[in-house]
Amino acid sequence: MTEYKVRSSALLGKTILVTGAGDGIGKAACKAYAQLGANVILLGRTVANLEKVYDEIVQIHQTSNFNEAQCAIIPLDLKGATEKHYQDMAMTIGDQFGCLDGLLHNASVLGHLQPFEHIKEDEFSEVMHVNVTSHFLMTKALLPVLKKAPMASTIFTTSTVGSQGRAYWGTYSVSKFAVEGMMQVLADEYADSTMRFNCINPGRTRTKMRASAYPAENPETLKTADEIMSVYEYLMSDESCKENGKTFLAQPSLAK
Ligand SMILES: NC(=O)c1ccc[n+]([C@@H]2O[C@H](COP(=O)([O-])OP(=O)(O)OC[C@H]3O[C@@H](n4cnc5c(N)ncnc54)[C@H](OP(=O)(O)O)[C@@H]3O)[C@@H](O)[C@H]2O)c1
Repeated sequence: MTEYKVRSSALLGKTILVTGAGDGIGKAACKAYAQLGANVILLGRTVANLEKVYDEIVQIHQTSNFNEAQCAIIPLDLKGATEKHYQDMAMTIGDQFGCLDGLLHNASVLGHLQPFEHIKEDEFSEVMHVNVTSHFLMTKALLPVLKKAPMASTIFTTSTVGSQGRAYWGTYSVSKFAVEGMMQVLADEYADSTMRFNCINPGRTRTKMRASAYPAENPETLKTADEIMSVYEYLMSDESCKENGKTFLAQPSLAK
């Protein structure tokens, strides 16, 4: 497995927003970024989960002697959020932190795995709204604060079914193709800037989403979210400043 190594204070002074921060891969990314000194903004829908992660981040900052580092919570359900919510959020981030150095689009929903002909229009719309439209609206609103950072990194989260369609993965698969497309459009459009846009495909990982897709699978056979963090750290650090428009596998050994 590819291991990217970054300096122990690689993210000191950087402000990073993570969506779906309350659980799974998003939670692991927040902790990993805090361990490297970042100010971490936790966005999610279940406040109790976000508060638990907040407490862990404060603890990590303290024990790592990153005494100036901050943590903030943005409770937001991507399902109902409008362009105005994201614009207000961008303004608050600008006022509090000055700029945004990193954005990890991690939250998404699976929807039901079912034959294509059974997909209901309202479910298709909901999954596409959370997994795609929210990413569009949020990225658009945050571009002004991302541009203020010296070298901002935006990471989108894809899946193996985001580049190869698979039977019964309908809306989720379609949404991940769209996410990869959005990343590529942005990467090309800002190729001459200091900003970069990439995707990570985490690969099968021991989380609630994976368990709901594969209920009979033994979770012990899967890597934990904490174990796949090296590419998440690399892409947020300045060491990846030349990477743009690519999709990275967090577990390349799974592709073999
Ligand atoms: N796990 C895998 O094997 C795997 C494989 C390939 C790709 N991925 C991708 O990796 C990313 C993270 O997946 P995961 O496995 O960590 O999923 P997860 O365990 O289901 O966690 C998802 C997180 O997103 C949040 N979220 C979901 N809907 C939201 C909404 N409407 N508004 C705000 N937050 C919302 C959840 O909030 P709550 O705390 O409220 O539940 C949760 O914290 C996803 O994009 C997924 O597609 C995962």
